[in-house]
Amino acid sequence: MTIADLWQPAYLIAAVLIILSIKWLNSPATARRGVQAGQIGMLCAVIGTLLRHEVVSFEWIALGLVLGAGIGAPLAYLMPMTALPQLTALSHAFGAFAAALVGTAEYYHKVPTGFPMAALVIETLLGYLTFTASIMAFGKLQELVPTRPMTYPGQNFVNLVLLGVAIVLGGWVTIGGAPVWAFPVFSGLSLLFGVLLILPIGGGDMPTVIALLNSYAGMAAAAMGFALNNKLLIIAGALNAASGFILSVIMCKAMNRSFTNVLFGAFGQVQAGAAAGKVDAKPVRSASAEDAASILAGSRKVIVVPGYGMAVAQAQHKIRELTDMLVKRGVDVQFAIHPVAGRMPGHMNVLLAEADIAYDRLHEMEEINSDFGEADVALVVGANDVVNPAARHDTASPIYGMPILDVDKAHTVMVIKRSLNPGFAGIDNELYYHDRTLMLFGDAKQFVADIVKELPKAA
Ligand code: TAP
Repeated sequence: MTIADLWQPAYLIAAVLIILSIKWLNSPATARRGVQAGQIGMLCAVIGTLLRHEVVSFEWIALGLVLGAGIGAPLAYLMPMTALPQLTALSHAFGAFAAALVGTAEYYHKVPTGFPMAALVIETLLGYLTFTASIMAFGKLQELVPTRPMTYPGQNFVNLVLLGVAIVLGGWVTIGGAPVWAFPVFSGLSLLFGVLLILPIGGGDMPTVIALLNSYAGMAAAAMGFALNNKLLIIAGALNAASGFILSVIMCKAMNRSFTNVLFGAFGQVQAGAAAGKVDAKPVRSASAEDAASILAGSRKVIVVPGYGMAVAQAQHKIRELTDMLVKRGVDVQFAIHPVAGRMPGHMNVLLAEADIAYDRLHEMEEINSDFGEADVALVVGANDVVNPAARHDTASPIYGMPILDVDKAHTVMVIKRSLNPGFAGIDNELYYHDRTLMLFGDAKQFVADIVKELPKAA
């Protein structure tokens, strides 16, 4: 056995580690181990690939490594936690572009036939469309491109025709006998389709779309595995495709939306009349940090409900301080996590873990919803849609049917946000006008810091 033969055990170890990584990422308690297993798995995959006899010179590879690391490392360090969805979109764009470029190079280099050619065409189609779609998703999330859905009459038809033409050209290339222009036109249409696919989707739906693009990038990688006869690529690509797809299904379910509604529904446009969930303007009751501190000090059970506003304000560390102080006073403090609170899966868990809030205080919606009835206070920190009671009864509301956290069952509801402005769904929230609701107007981090200051003075 020569050193070059070690690529096979390296691939085997990589495959096992990547599978374990996905398994461990399932729970916050093992997630760190999952990330490390994934990293080591990727390293084994890269080393194994470099050992293969097809690799004859290392100059271009070294250049690619320096360029890739030079872009990737600063991106990972410099992008703030709130920009994680954008970063994910960019990494899918790069991965998918790499798959498409390998497909293009293979096409001109070897001109395969039969099944490998079919796999190559699928790889190139998915790779190019995922590349431009992910760049567009990045642009929308970063607000470089208008975030509202951009629609025009007959849009879905135009998109379908364009995809249809690309598929026909791809089929022609696969069967053989296609003219020289067929492959470049096929590639160009795939790139264009990616852009057009994202135009009608609102910025807020991008996290779901990114999970779906993750799945496409995985399929492109798996197809590349078939085209190159590389089993590790098939395994990793298939895992990526399946997990991305399952994640997007979970997100759609938690929002009570269908795939077609997310992809073609142009959700997030200005809504009209009753459908906008407009609540008759009634006075709201607001309170100061001092009032909030004294109510919290007199409570036995407090359930904290974090939302997107906590992420924007980066209030998690102050919430941790508040939790510690309340626990010291003998208050039972728990956290209720809605599956789509924030803007990406696990958004709240990541931030609360960063602030060292114990996992056993965090509860999923189904687990904690029945506890709100016996809570003295539901402290809503920058959450809006996920606590909007209209989802339960207002059939005209765009969020009707979305499962929500039943904070309105608590004895007192305190909501920290800066104004009465709507959240992601763009609709008013009747919770703010309830008799038992107190609005704590202000930036979440600052307001929680003020409560922390006032708490020692409270009786
Ligand atoms: P949202 O409904 O988006 O509401 C967030 C609220 O935070 C806003 O109303 C805003 O009110 C407040 N806020 C913003 N900055 C703040 C700050 N610095 N301090 C205090 N408050 C601040 O959030 P949510 O309840 O977490 O719901 C998430 C929404 O996103 C759902 O509609 C969900 O379907 C959607 N979504 C989620 C995901 C995932 S995977 N999580 C993916 C796609 C879509 P003010 O402006 O008045 O402060």
